[in-house]
Amino acid sequence: MAVARMNVNCSIQSSLSCILKPSSFFSFRTAHFKNRLYLPQNNFVSPKRSLLCTCSSNSNQANASQTGEKAEAFVITTPLYYVNAPPHMGSAYTTIAADAIARFQRLSGKKVIFNTGTDEHGEKIATAASAAGSSPREHCDVISQAYKMLWKDLDIAYDKFIRTTDPKHEAIVKEFYSRVLANDDIYRADYEGLYCVNCEEYKDEKELLENNCCPTHLKPCVPRKEDNYFFALSKYQKSLEEILAQNPDFVQPSYRLNEVQSWIKNGLRDFSISRAAVDWGIPVPNDNKQTIYVWFDALLGYISALLEDKDQPNLQTAVSLGWPASLHLIGKDILRFHAVYWPAMLLSAGLSLPKMVFCHGFLTKDGLKMGKSLGNTIEPNELVHKFGADAVRYFFLREVEFGNDGDYSEDRFINIVNAHLANTIGNLLNRTLGLLKKNCQSTLVVDSTIAAEGKEFKDTVEKLVEKARFHYENLSLSSACEAVLEIGNAGNLYMDKHQPWSLFKQGGDAAEAAAKDLVIILETMRIIAIALSPVAPNLCRRIHSQLGYSEDQLDNLNWSETKWGGLKGGQVMAHPQPVFARIEQIKEDDNDGAESPKKAVKKKDKKKKVQGVIEA
Ligand code: MSP
Repeated sequence: MAVARMNVNCSIQSSLSCILKPSSFFSFRTAHFKNRLYLPQNNFVSPKRSLLCTCSSNSNQANASQTGEKAEAFVITTPLYYVNAPPHMGSAYTTIAADAIARFQRLSGKKVIFNTGTDEHGEKIATAASAAGSSPREHCDVISQAYKMLWKDLDIAYDKFIRTTDPKHEAIVKEFYSRVLANDDIYRADYEGLYCVNCEEYKDEKELLENNCCPTHLKPCVPRKEDNYFFALSKYQKSLEEILAQNPDFVQPSYRLNEVQSWIKNGLRDFSISRAAVDWGIPVPNDNKQTIYVWFDALLGYISALLEDKDQPNLQTAVSLGWPASLHLIGKDILRFHAVYWPAMLLSAGLSLPKMVFCHGFLTKDGLKMGKSLGNTIEPNELVHKFGADAVRYFFLREVEFGNDGDYSEDRFINIVNAHLANTIGNLLNRTLGLLKKNCQSTLVVDSTIAAEGKEFKDTVEKLVEKARFHYENLSLSSACEAVLEIGNAGNLYMDKHQPWSLFKQGGDAAEAAAKDLVIILETMRIIAIALSPVAPNLCRRIHSQLGYSEDQLDNLNWSETKWGGLKGGQVMAHPQPVFARIEQIKEDDNDGAESPKKAVKKKDKKKKVQGVIEA
């Protein structure tokens, strides 16, 4: 039985802290968690004096409101992805969700800073590089680039991409380490325990499966004995308990908060923040024989990402550009790092805590977490090239309840995407535009407000839009998609009930009513294009341009424009073209002419084969 053992054997680092520690503290108020404190610049802050404080954070400058007041920026982050292997659908999932939230917040008029990046140091990366026959740096360059390319293919509009091998990041990590040291929170000790290289974490034996296997990676943990620097996490037990009790929204969904609270209640153990045996990392300040533990390094990426290359690479500048983050989006496997270690580290360094950590579930295959270590991944590039970015984004956000696990199946993917995007939305638009072309020269006969006078339908749409907004705001992305789809369903029901195609045949007043019905449905499509744009941006751009707007107009809209009344009489619609081509599943014949059970996915129209979904 491996026993975790720790001996404090020296305090070089603590003596250094005396040099780094300021001789006097500044007076400041303690603040409620959600408020910001503005502190004198260039000073270290003692967490003993204040739980939450920040170095003069003025990220709010970014978004001056019309009244001239400074509004707060919405800063959202994804985890920094390990570059041991190229991205898989599980890693893409967090980023797609973050992008949808960022797009929604931009639509709502917020200045958004959306940060992502890659986590490039540590044993796991060095081992992967050597297995690939590359130097760690070359390896990181290649895989980090693969992430950037995938984000482009998935229409991810991030603002900052940080690599933990970037020199500005290294400078931030070293400064942060020195602050924590100056606060007497780092000491040296021996450690012996069981290590999971894939998690890059010492494990508690109680959490392990048979043969000391890691429950996430199903691989045995290895016994390790090291002389390391430790972070005094235990010192922050009480502060963390208080913060969580006072700020129950800090960890979401709420059942995750219970999990975090019970970890803390069971007692926090100091953790090792350096590695003696790992070269591929940032050297510990004043001890080049050790490198900084990859998590202590990577978490700082949330702050270093805020810096531009032209900026001074120091904490004060970085913090002033947008710290604290409004929302860290993470998967459930890295909750402890974000809801326990990271807040304690920030308290130690005298920096504000992020406002919220939202923890989503896993994409699974056969019930197991899809991942590089288990090798049961779905290739996101393949999905995107086969089905298009909108379909991939829509499927995972609609089908996986944000927070819960969700299983992928190709059949389900095709059914959902066809039913929702091709039929409910795409067909509705196409058949309405077809009727308008045939009967009204593609021109709207009246303003949409006039067309909807006295009709309950308009209220139904407005209620559903508000429902979608509420769900986006609360990060219930699946429910937001559902509310938008309900608008599409209502539109289809309206068409089927009023049958404008027969009314046109009757002529006179009936034809006039039919022409108004088309305006009503097209206004509904305009609203859908805005409301679904965070999830399926390209599809919505195509819908919008079918309504006679220019290509980029949708990008400059505000959520308030989902209000009924945008389309005006006389407006000319574009030539009707399918905005989302149905995905056909065909059974391929094998060589003997017998039917193969394997399904191939193909467009009906060969010309549209690969790009058909994207550019139909
Ligand atoms: N490098 C750390 C994060 C450091 S953040 C300062 C890391 N990287 S990771 O590449 O292993 O995972 C990144 C994110 O992808 C995590 O939030 C993880 O939960 C998520 N996913 C990885 N596989 C996943 C699924 N199968 N399903 C959903 N998300 C999962 O952890």
